[in-house]
Amino acid sequence: MFTHEDLARLQSQSLKMQSWIRQQTFSPESTKKLRRFSSWEVSELIFRINQSTFRGRLSAEPNLPGGEVEPDGRQRWFSLEEINELRRRMKVNRKSLMPPRPFGKRALRAAVANFKGGAGKSTVALHLAHAAALDGYRILVVDFDPQATLSHSMGLTDVAEDYTVWGIMARDLIRETDRMNEVASGAASGTTLPRRKIPASIRDMGLGDLRVSDFIKPTAWSTIDIIPSCANAAFVEFASAQYRHLNPEWSFFAAVSRYLDNLSDDDYDLIIFDCPPAIGYQSMNAVFAADMLYIPSGPGYWEYDSTTSFIGQLAEALEDLSHGFDATFPAGKISLPKAFVDIRFLMTRFEPGNELHRAMFEAFKKVFGEHVAEHPVEMTRAVEQSGRFLSSVYEIDYREMTRETWRRARASFDRAYDEFKSHAVEAWEKI
Ligand SMILES: Nc1ncnc2c1ncn2[C@@H]1O[C@H](COP(=O)(O)OP(=O)(O)OP(=O)(O)O)[C@@H](O)[C@H]1O
Ligand SMILES: [Mg+2]
Repeated sequence: MFTHEDLARLQSQSLKMQSWIRQQTFSPESTKKLRRFSSWEVSELIFRINQSTFRGRLSAEPNLPGGEVEPDGRQRWFSLEEINELRRRMKVNRKSLMPPRPFGKRALRAAVANFKGGAGKSTVALHLAHAAALDGYRILVVDFDPQATLSHSMGLTDVAEDYTVWGIMARDLIRETDRMNEVASGAASGTTLPRRKIPASIRDMGLGDLRVSDFIKPTAWSTIDIIPSCANAAFVEFASAQYRHLNPEWSFFAAVSRYLDNLSDDDYDLIIFDCPPAIGYQSMNAVFAADMLYIPSGPGYWEYDSTTSFIGQLAEALEDLSHGFDATFPAGKISLPKAFVDIRFLMTRFEPGNELHRAMFEAFKKVFGEHVAEHPVEMTRAVEQSGRFLSSVYEIDYREMTRETWRRARASFDRAYDEFKSHAVEAWEKI
């Protein structure tokens, strides 16, 4: 378990702070549709079994889903639903193809966070979600960033702000205030606790009446759902400050965690948070709800500086919050004081042939030790070319580019995912 003190210690091991200028372009995409996956991908890259074993099984068991043959080729192509059905029904060497899930646990929550803009947060969140879905997990992603890169990448371009993290926070304010007022009026001790009033302008928005499922939207991937964001949700930072004023006892940072507590433990396996490049009300909610912290960072010197400064500020923010917990604080499904089961730094946009990148990677390892993910995400044209509202390498059909470029990109994200998975499964046992 790691607390704000561990974060502070990590930060004090290195100092310096810089900022950089975030560049972005904006070009929302049209509707997304998930492609099919070839029998080569399904066997060797997804199930990781021999292609001829796979083909043999399919012809021996004709009632297994057989995919579709494309007019121009001999390969069979499978939908995600078919892949999941095969995974449930096939055993290889008497071993199940289902991914591990600790018995009786709720979904594991992982936050991808860094206040450095362009560090690769959304790219990492997108690829982890897609890799995990291909691995057989059921995923919920939460987009905490009003830039909505992840929402757009997952095909959600027309989102009303009521159904974003902002809506969840406003709903929580109303519900928590009502709850606190009830406790206050029910107190037989005679001590008068203050009654808090929520103005009609906020109550009348009707957010208090929204159901848990109202915030969750499907994506082109049948096993990935999303709580999306949109540009209009940018005022959440401003609104939250006002809400805190209305009810100073409201634990604003726990709103999303409380919301997620209402999901059934078995609804999802993994919940992945994409964070905005800032420490504010939204990112504090993400961090507070998270069991695992994944911190992507580019391989440049400035990125190292700002990652250092990020963990310092996060440590301070978490320490501040920790004064707000007393015996009456409703912790829900997280343990208090706030601690992460795992914290990892993941280098992104890494070029193995670049001496400076290698040196920076070594420096990261020297400073952050075992917290550094062993396998950086490599710089790849496959992702770079897909633009800001990106497709993951998993979504891109390998026939659309040089096979070698695609393979290398996919191998890099696969290694990063495999490492994430092994830490995630370990962390899962501990929650
Ligand atoms: N491994 C990679 N290879 C090539 N390009 C990458 C890679 N990772 C990220 N990029 C590119 O870098 C840019 C920033 O990435 P991304 O949007 O994931 O960062 P972010 O940390 O989410 O940014 P923000 O702080 O604005 O939310 C994008 O244009 C993306 O395509
Ligand atoms: Mg982003």
